[in-house]
Amino acid sequence: MKDIFDEIASLKREKNAVILAHYYQEPDIQDVADFVGDSLELSKKAAATGARIIVFAGVHFMAETAKILNPAKKVLLPDLKAGCSLADSCPPAPFALFKAKYPGAVVISYINCSAEIKALSDYICTSSNAEKIVRSISPDKTIIFAPDKNLGAYLVKKTGRPMALWQGSCIVHETFSEKKIVQLKTRYPDALVIAHPECEEPILKLADHIGSTSSLLKFTQQNPARQFIVVTEAGIIHQMKKASPGKEFFAGPPDDGAETAACGCNECPHMKRNTLEKLRDCLRDETPEIVLGEPLRIKALVPIERMLALS
Ligand code: 13P
Ligand code: SF4
Repeated sequence: MKDIFDEIASLKREKNAVILAHYYQEPDIQDVADFVGDSLELSKKAAATGARIIVFAGVHFMAETAKILNPAKKVLLPDLKAGCSLADSCPPAPFALFKAKYPGAVVISYINCSAEIKALSDYICTSSNAEKIVRSISPDKTIIFAPDKNLGAYLVKKTGRPMALWQGSCIVHETFSEKKIVQLKTRYPDALVIAHPECEEPILKLADHIGSTSSLLKFTQQNPARQFIVVTEAGIIHQMKKASPGKEFFAGPPDDGAETAACGCNECPHMKRNTLEKLRDCLRDETPEIVLGEPLRIKALVPIERMLALS
């Protein structure tokens, strides 16, 4: 009898499908994927693939972005309910009212948002290219940045560019405990703290390196340090261990009262809705599929293409 890994491999061949997985997916899913990456890399892969079917092992806004870029392809998401608290924190109607308060402003939206928010934006960015995109905007323009207030505040500090920030955030990246990171650092003084810019400012202040998931991974490969405290969703540690088997990685501790991540709050509950079984079933049944109306898709495509041209 075939095991699930063989089943997925043959279904993929049979159906001319590609599996794209984000670093926050469970290790088995990362291991069956054709490509594992951060949001920007996955968007680029989605834009370039020749496959008939894209299985997006990630969350809804990621699969939706792949569909915006590939209207003729079938884009599948193993669990259609795999959402994102950050994307949900920015509903289109209140955002349109917020935008109306700044006539003539340039809207830069983090890719973690719905197609409706993308359609209201001038540029999309990811954590890999956000700084570059902010710096590309003419200094005489007002910038609105949505939906992540933490990434927005980090960019304001980094670029010196004031921006009107939508007050959204990610439940996972706001879970980390400053006190427990300091305690870990005391126990492992040589460990470097690496953090995703979706974290709050007091956490980022403790970081030796701040960057997208790919940037954090690269840092652990290139830096000679042997120990790292990884302050982002814990799924990325799978690739860090694979790339640097001799090094030690501590998952950033959440504020749950326990010494380590007993609550599992440093794991994204949305990302983790996808399982290997759901991935196999969606490949086999070619559902659930991302469906998007053409007028909305065309509007949402414009700021994504501007981002890809700048990346
Ligand atoms: P990156 O993939 O850009 O590092 O973003 C992480 C994230 O929160 C995805 O939801
Ligand atoms: Fe959204 Fe946060 Fe999960 Fe990323 S980690 S998908 S931003 S809820």
